[in-house]
Amino acid sequence: MAHHHHHHVGTSSNLSFEHTDNILIEERLFPPPEDIVKNANITAYMKSKGFDDYEAFYRWSLANRFEFWNDMAKELHWFEPWKSTFEWTDKPFFKWFTDGKFNIAYNCLDRYMGTPIEDKVAFYWEGDDGSSRAYTYKEMYVLTNRVAKVLQNQGVKKGDRVAIYMPMIPEMAASVLACARLGAPHMVVFGGFAASSLRDRMNDCDAKVLITADGGYRGGKVIELKKIADEAVAETPTIEKVFVQRHTGFEVPMAEGRDVYLDVLLNDIPEDTVVPCEPVDSEDMLYILYTSGSTGKPKGVVHVHGGYAVGCYATTKFVFDIKPSDVFWCTADIGWVTGHSYTIYGPMMNAASIVLFEGIPTYPAADRFWSIVEKYKVNIIYTAPTAIRSLMRFGEELPARHDLSSLRILGTVGEPINPEAWMWYRKNIGHNELPIMDTWWQTETGMILISPTPILPLKPGSASRPLPTIEADVVNKDGKPVGPEHGGFLIIRHPWPAQMRTIFGDPDRYKTYWETIPDVYFAGDAATMDKMGYFRIQGRVDDVIKVSGHRLGSMEIESSLVSHPAVAEAAAIGKPDEVKGEHVKVFVILRNGVEPTESLAVELKRHVRTLVGPLATPDELEFVTSLPKTRSGKIMRRVVRARELGEPVGDITTLDV
Ligand code: WTA
Repeated sequence: MAHHHHHHVGTSSNLSFEHTDNILIEERLFPPPEDIVKNANITAYMKSKGFDDYEAFYRWSLANRFEFWNDMAKELHWFEPWKSTFEWTDKPFFKWFTDGKFNIAYNCLDRYMGTPIEDKVAFYWEGDDGSSRAYTYKEMYVLTNRVAKVLQNQGVKKGDRVAIYMPMIPEMAASVLACARLGAPHMVVFGGFAASSLRDRMNDCDAKVLITADGGYRGGKVIELKKIADEAVAETPTIEKVFVQRHTGFEVPMAEGRDVYLDVLLNDIPEDTVVPCEPVDSEDMLYILYTSGSTGKPKGVVHVHGGYAVGCYATTKFVFDIKPSDVFWCTADIGWVTGHSYTIYGPMMNAASIVLFEGIPTYPAADRFWSIVEKYKVNIIYTAPTAIRSLMRFGEELPARHDLSSLRILGTVGEPINPEAWMWYRKNIGHNELPIMDTWWQTETGMILISPTPILPLKPGSASRPLPTIEADVVNKDGKPVGPEHGGFLIIRHPWPAQMRTIFGDPDRYKTYWETIPDVYFAGDAATMDKMGYFRIQGRVDDVIKVSGHRLGSMEIESSLVSHPAVAEAAAIGKPDEVKGEHVKVFVILRNGVEPTESLAVELKRHVRTLVGPLATPDELEFVTSLPKTRSGKIMRRVVRARELGEPVGDITTLDV
């Protein structure tokens, strides 16, 4: 492990994952519906390349990946074409579509103006309380230009970072797209994150302005976004202006000279205002999105305009098989990468009508999802296994009450889907026949990498195969393939267009992705591959916890605990959870003289909630007097977790006992 000594690579436990080889061999194979195969976008592309057979096509795509991606890029608008498709001169850094002049926002909006698409609905907005509004592509274009003008008037220009902390409303989408227009990277923070999380992210990227709202709704409750934002901005010296979109209409304090209502400014901007898209370089930054890793500070994953756009466009087209008349609904919040790639950019570049939902699956009742599918005649729904598992518990009657016949394709993302949930989804939502796209990818990958397209036979609980041009494998820590039906590390062999370019302000941290296992991209997941080449993702091998599909770092939770005066040390782990996939359990060593009481446990859980956000709230807290550590004093969470779950502890040579 000579490559492994960078200080960011957490504990030495990262790659000592013991493969359980505890493999579920899935015999069930569900062939795709014939009419879907016949009409699929991927079928048309295969035919255009002279293939009938997927196997042969996939092999062709590996040998001709640049031809494939050139074809995809040509379907988008470029101000100036790219000179070379791919450059990998400064490994592990690389470039796609070099010297092209491009703007992703142009491809989401401008391109459609003056065509029939301008009158098509871009967003069906569904509020938490059931109120709704529809925005055509033209209306989104107007709104986006107005937001861009507001930002421009404030002096926001290419390269300036704009923080966005908003509910799922059309003004949020317009804000994201307005930043893209200006070439000003957006940095969206999930509305469920607490003030200190927002503050740290804004400070890390020196955000110049913040766009927020007075508040948002989730399940009938108000999220006081402005109040949280105020706390964060108080400790973010780079923020010059706070734009506040009124949504709840509740009175919020407005700081003189700093805060201004966005809706008021927008109204003053003439409807025909156009802020032309900045023709940025393909490799110019589109956004930063913070995500959790093995070490403390969340990392600012950097995505760029050109390759990211091409990757999102192509995967949306082929995986979800979007057709011109389709209504597409990705339930992910914009605060996560899925919201970026598949709630906004991918479907907009495919000119879909998109459902934008502010609320939660169980409010006002547990059939909310299914009533939305019925209301908007959704054709493609893309959600998380955790949502399916939580809705399963309410029984088959709830989906049966709704007309779900509009659906054609189902999708899942964010965590492994267990075969029972997969079968339930197929049976109750997919009328026993619809294909399920179990899509594996990450914030860092920008786009889906391992997933069926609707023409592949499916296995419950398997993300199936790498997409065209993508070469995935399961290897040991030296990079040697472990072969079918053995557990190992999931890796990808060659960069793809939408891959992150770096970690903002920390290129060394980016390098670890390509250096942990020599010369390949190491995803941080364990997986197995079967004899058909179908992948089954087992989960993270690092200290990332997936709570309801949301990515959290153990260290962030531990840091918040240790900031409490009663706490000396803490370890956070993810424990298997029937609904959430994983929940957080923390082990706490108290300071000398502090009594471990029930009320202190409650207080500490609340402390995490306040400092990190509701998602991170530990479900379990245990007071302990010692924790296993390495010789250098790092807590070995892997050992804590193995002990807790009664699993073999594995290699403990570096453990202090
Ligand atoms: C997990 C979410 C199993 C995985 C797009 C990965 C999955 C992490 C799947 C990335 C899937 C994502 N099956 N596991 N279909 N999709 N994961 O960055 O552990 O929030 O490394 O991106 O989610 O989480 P992130």
